Amino acid sequence: MNDCSIRGLIGVASLALLLLLAPPLLHAEDGSEAWLRYAPVNDPSEYKALPAHIIVLGDTPSEHAAGSELQKGLSSMLGRHFDLRVESTSTASSLDSIVIGSSKSNVLSHDLGNDLPLKAEQYRITVHSEHGKNRVVIVGGTPQAELYGAFHLLEEIAAERRLPVDESQSPAAPIRWTDEWDNLNGTIERGYAGPSIFFEAGHVRQNLTRAAQYARLLASVGMNGCNVNNVNADLDLLTTEHLREFAHIADAFRPWGVKLALSVDLTSPQTVGGLSTFDPLDPAVAAWWRTKADEIYALIPDFGGFTVKADSEGRKGPSQYGRNPADAANVLARALAPHHGIVLYRGFIYNNHLDWLDPKADRARAGVDNFVRYNGQFDTNVIIQIKEGPIDFQAREPVSPLFGALTHSNMAIEVETSQEYTGQQRHMVWLPTMWKWVLDTDLRVGNRSTPVKEIVEGRSFPLADGQPRPGGFISVTNVGMDANWLHHPMALANLYGFGKLAWNPDQPIEEIIDSWTRLTWGTDPQVDQTIDTLQLRSWNIYEGYTGPNGMGTLTNILGYHFGPGIESAERNGWGQWFRGEKDGIGMDRTGSGTGYVEQYPPELAARYESLATCPDDLLLFFHHVPYDYKLHSGKTLVQSIYDTHYASANAAAEYVPQWKSRKGKIDDERYQQVLALFNFQAGHAIVWRDAINHWFERISGIPDAQGRIEHDSNRIEAESMQPRGYEAASVSPWETASGGKAMVCRVPDGCSLTTQINQPAGLYDIAVQYFDTWHGVSHYSLSVNGTVVASWTGDDTLPPAQFDLHLDGQDSTRFTTHAVALKPGDTLTVHGIPDLRSELNSAQAIRSEAGALAPDASEHRDYREYAPIDYLEFGPNSAVTPQ
Ligand code: GCU
Repeated sequence: MNDCSIRGLIGVASLALLLLLAPPLLHAEDGSEAWLRYAPVNDPSEYKALPAHIIVLGDTPSEHAAGSELQKGLSSMLGRHFDLRVESTSTASSLDSIVIGSSKSNVLSHDLGNDLPLKAEQYRITVHSEHGKNRVVIVGGTPQAELYGAFHLLEEIAAERRLPVDESQSPAAPIRWTDEWDNLNGTIERGYAGPSIFFEAGHVRQNLTRAAQYARLLASVGMNGCNVNNVNADLDLLTTEHLREFAHIADAFRPWGVKLALSVDLTSPQTVGGLSTFDPLDPAVAAWWRTKADEIYALIPDFGGFTVKADSEGRKGPSQYGRNPADAANVLARALAPHHGIVLYRGFIYNNHLDWLDPKADRARAGVDNFVRYNGQFDTNVIIQIKEGPIDFQAREPVSPLFGALTHSNMAIEVETSQEYTGQQRHMVWLPTMWKWVLDTDLRVGNRSTPVKEIVEGRSFPLADGQPRPGGFISVTNVGMDANWLHHPMALANLYGFGKLAWNPDQPIEEIIDSWTRLTWGTDPQVDQTIDTLQLRSWNIYEGYTGPNGMGTLTNILGYHFGPGIESAERNGWGQWFRGEKDGIGMDRTGSGTGYVEQYPPELAARYESLATCPDDLLLFFHHVPYDYKLHSGKTLVQSIYDTHYASANAAAEYVPQWKSRKGKIDDERYQQVLALFNFQAGHAIVWRDAINHWFERISGIPDAQGRIEHDSNRIEAESMQPRGYEAASVSPWETASGGKAMVCRVPDGCSLTTQINQPAGLYDIAVQYFDTWHGVSHYSLSVNGTVVASWTGDDTLPPAQFDLHLDGQDSTRFTTHAVALKPGDTLTVHGIPDLRSELNSAQAIRSEAGALAPDASEHRDYREYAPIDYLEFGPNSAVTPQ
């Protein structure tokens, strides 16, 4: 190297150092770093005692990862250089150093005194000085635990907390996994953040950078497994060709201590193996699974295990041969056992062809009814994976009674970070508040304390030798290729919170959210306080404008589970019924009803059975009551539903001004993303509010005491405006459009709706409620006396992320323009230009028969959207807040 290049290098190095030392800038961030941003701390001198030498005493991939993570994080946060060396015997004693090593290492025994060895997955961090040398020592019972210790040290600094002096931690349970519902074709079932990070076009992606980054995120909050494919598994998943490719994902995960697991279909011996049966008790089937497991472990020595969905929602299962879940789980378990693999057998088995006319039929009963008689018959490496509630991730359900019933079986809890029923990452809903409530619920099995968290930790019903049963925590997460993993910049707080609760379900949620906020958004106290408060209240607010009093989430059950679709839950075999009749509403699950309540241990059963003690927020899950039934709160049920919806939609609208008050203190890219989503949520909360309140008013015949429903003096229905080209169209279900109708335009040049203003003169916010379907891009403008005051395009990509022309609660959204000057007599016009490209493409497709275009071009290019408008709303000169 010549002088010049050395000078060049020095120049580059000092520039890099200067950049590191520069005060924090609000540069654009895309969220891909999640909570591992390692932003410069405000006062690096607080950490000046931290030695600049990092010594890794070990040579495993996880120890390497721990060392380089520390080097990267500390340099970035503290603005000084940290060097890294890997050694087998330490020179550490002669240097000020940060040492990472195994608790079995002789070199460290001196530092640790008599506390050795640590449990597997336990780490300990000590900060002390010895012979005049500063030493920060991170030891772990396994290399992964060393990594957890390194991440913990980094998190303490990132959150600008004091360095631990002597701290030891270990996780609550061995299973801390995420499930990803990815299909080999690259789509994700119930995924809302783009395509799969693992698969594309039937294969594992060539570039697995995102998979490795994801494993790093998981490890940073102590997670140790990831099941990468849909529980509705591809039938050819276990072919040798696919398995070889899955080994690449396992390689990407390995440094981060994250085990790869796979969902398997029980028919695989037939579909992949070519056997004539998949009967779990057939010896040929058992042999096939053994050979398959051997093949998998030869490719992936640290493979985690199988997840199984069987006899549920169309998946085949052991019932086909008169066998039971234990027969099926055990045949897999025995194939995996020699390799220390496990089977997660899902408790989510129910009949989706239930008889609606049978008052005793009840989907909620299915878990206990299908499993309790096999309690104690599962092999030791089988864990029953149980959804938190008996139905399906609703905004609120009671906890599943199956947790209290399987007293001689291993259990894990399954929660859903992917917000399938809770706003699909277009609404901010911080779910750990709900999970904590679930985990703390005490089932009182045998009239003693048995909270759900202790059951899944394996402590409530230990093994014969007193040791905890294996168990744990699983989150269906469904991250995607969106840069920020889950689409909404606030949504990753759910994954972070899940990891923290899985590690320690006793950690206060206030502490968890505050750490996430500091790591993700910086340490400005006002920003932190705003975000913490918004997140902590968000679940109750969402519940308040969607599914009140234990009715579930009143979403479109038969569709995408996103917007309101109230009666879709009723009169079909899916069993998410709430039985809203003329006389009253709610599922009678008491002893005289479906008897479900008796599946709980006696104390809890008695509490839910009695109207006097059943909590208001679970009332309709357990009881059928008249609409004027008096709640414990003192209000009638129906008035409480009205009031809660108005209050909660108001609270959701408040997110916007609160967020705006922090402008300038948050980088612009993420600020704008959140602002747009909060605006959307405010509008969609009104759609929910109006749909549910209107529906309740109609079915109960009891008007809102405050006369608000469908009497909004600030609203002008599109149908009541003067149309030019626009025509009325019915919206179904009726409750998802104001007045049950929208105006649509099928004229290529566009149409308009006009009205005359009779509001007093002043400045107004004007909101236009319209429908924005997937793919179609309609153009709109708003003019006063012929002068355009605002224009926008309807090009949002709302869930379900697939073509659907239907106008309903999924795609109703709003545009708001601020401070428009209006006076009586002014003419206000909305002009809409539809997107008619489907017709255009069909015309091309006809030509394609003459060979001009690919024959299926028209199918994939249907953009039709008829610039649909529901209503206009005027507000004072501030955000248009709902009344
Ligand atoms: C829900 C979800 C399905 C999923 C199922 C499951 O019903 O809507 O998409 O397959 O849960 O957990 O198996």
